Amino acid sequence: MFSFLTDLRCSRCGTRYRADVVQGVCVCGAPLLAQYDLSRLADESSRAVFANRESSLWRYHELLPVSREENVVSLGEGMTPLVTLPRLGDRLGVPRLLMKDEGTIPTGSFKARGAAVGVSRAAELGVRGIAMPTNGNAGAAWALYAARAGLHALIAMPERAPAICRGEVSSAGAELYLVRGHIGDCGRLINAAVARRNGLQEVSTLKEPYRLEGKKTMGIEIVEQLGWTMPDVIVYPTGGGVGIIGIRKALDELVELGWLSGPLPRLVAVQASGCAPIVKAFESRMRESSPWPDPNTVAFGLNVPRPLGDFLILDAIYTTNGCAIAVSDTELLAAQRETANAEGALVCPEGAATIAAIGILRERGQIREDEVVVALNTGAGIKYPETLHATAPILEPDGEIPATV
Ligand SMILES: Cc1ncc(COP(=O)(O)O)c(C=O)c1O
Ligand SMILES: [Zn+2]
Repeated sequence: MFSFLTDLRCSRCGTRYRADVVQGVCVCGAPLLAQYDLSRLADESSRAVFANRESSLWRYHELLPVSREENVVSLGEGMTPLVTLPRLGDRLGVPRLLMKDEGTIPTGSFKARGAAVGVSRAAELGVRGIAMPTNGNAGAAWALYAARAGLHALIAMPERAPAICRGEVSSAGAELYLVRGHIGDCGRLINAAVARRNGLQEVSTLKEPYRLEGKKTMGIEIVEQLGWTMPDVIVYPTGGGVGIIGIRKALDELVELGWLSGPLPRLVAVQASGCAPIVKAFESRMRESSPWPDPNTVAFGLNVPRPLGDFLILDAIYTTNGCAIAVSDTELLAAQRETANAEGALVCPEGAATIAAIGILRERGQIREDEVVVALNTGAGIKYPETLHATAPILEPDGEIPATV
């Protein structure tokens, strides 16, 4: 069997839904989570089968929702490098620091994972078009994968989102609207448009079940790349939270399969101080967040004032003894430069936020020196030219470069 998907379960009330028809959220409003026949998979297979598979996230197809191989829509996404950061790690006092580098993936961000799996499954279930609000990278990825699948894409993004993303969406031939507002405002506009049009599925963050399944493969890859062992800490830049919820889901499934053991890593949600609803909720030990007024950060993917899955993000943090921490734009931009000059890795601002956060957590003693810490760089730094500044003298053709610096 290509997929061991059985059905969907509400993350809040537990109600079960069929998985062989298009579904959105539960009647109670909460996200639906894909369920797999893990006991049968454990009987019929083992983790050893992955070793000889293709180097993409589809190597884990049994744990993904697409039922037939020919329905996979792929640009070769997944199996991104888990790179060592020895110099930066020494500076931060975390010598076993690793970075899962999603900057190398098609469309330049980890959003390709959710888009590949979400678009493949939507097309397999007969969806003709998708509609979504986005902070930029998700819209770019879904528009491009929709183009590959031959689906229409309707995308609304804040006017202030990174300019490259609107170029990507337009190049893909999608229907794009720029909104004078934040992602929540885009979401309301998309929701109203879907109600008025026929044949569009709303694929907003956690409003359909399969984007999460694509994102969870980051968690499977990390432990496979570590020889099927858990790291001590995973540090994730959190906006809508799909990645952190997905990583936790993946690790839980692997433990249930008996393919992984030990306590889950402490999951750390990093946000920007200009938009930190999860950090605020965590600091007062709340189970849900409240909307962040006037969200604003250069790490645009983190500009989510009220994530739909807030209770799932907070649950992932609490149950793994993790934490949530905010860093300022100044701190994350400094970390972006430091990561590039110490390690040659040009990370996106959201990824840089995890590096800044690791420094602070180490200083506070919340990360120990001997721990294996995985930072998620969720996208390529070159997608954010507005955060990269060059200072260089201008020379005339007959000028001279100094003999020494
Ligand atoms: C580069 C980048 N990092 C992180 C995030 C946040 O992702 P998540 O929704 O998984 O929290 C986004 C979302 O737009 C993003 O584009
Ligand atoms: Zn429910």
